[in-house]
Amino acid sequence: MSKPEVAVVMGSKSDMPVMERTCRMLEHLGIGHRVLVLSAHRMPKKTRDFARSAARQGTRVIIAGAGMAAHLAGAIASETVLPVIGVPLPGSHLSGVDALYSTVQMPSGVPVATMAIGPAGATNAAVFAAEILALSDPGLKKRLAAYRRSLARR
Ligand code: RP5
Repeated sequence: MSKPEVAVVMGSKSDMPVMERTCRMLEHLGIGHRVLVLSAHRMPKKTRDFARSAARQGTRVIIAGAGMAAHLAGAIASETVLPVIGVPLPGSHLSGVDALYSTVQMPSGVPVATMAIGPAGATNAAVFAAEILALSDPGLKKRLAAYRRSLARR
């Protein structure tokens, strides 16, 4: 696997069953990634340090999955100009609508590219990261096109 260009962050170990879809799709597309459990409210300093140092460490895209108040993606986006992709996770009494609103409703100037709630969003976060990276990676562009063609054979 190539160097980790994508950081996959999640708010809790309990998010892993959904967020592992992101990791599987990144692997399928041959994109190096690292996985971190970081919570914006339980470990704010660690989360800030990660966001501030991510670009320096070679990260090019950050994917952040979280449930409930789901401020993780926005908190990370506030500390970096790397593209941040948010995945709102279900599991709460509000079935992820809480996380969707928390993730998507970023005030002007600090965007989070927000995917669908749950498994589809987790997969699409990896595909969207691939689309960003493919702008400067012709090999990845070909793998992405092959993946898209494979969808038509389902
Ligand atoms: C969020 O709260 C996490 O992203 C998770 O989806 C949710 C519940 O976390 P746990 O109580 O399962 O650790 O911070």
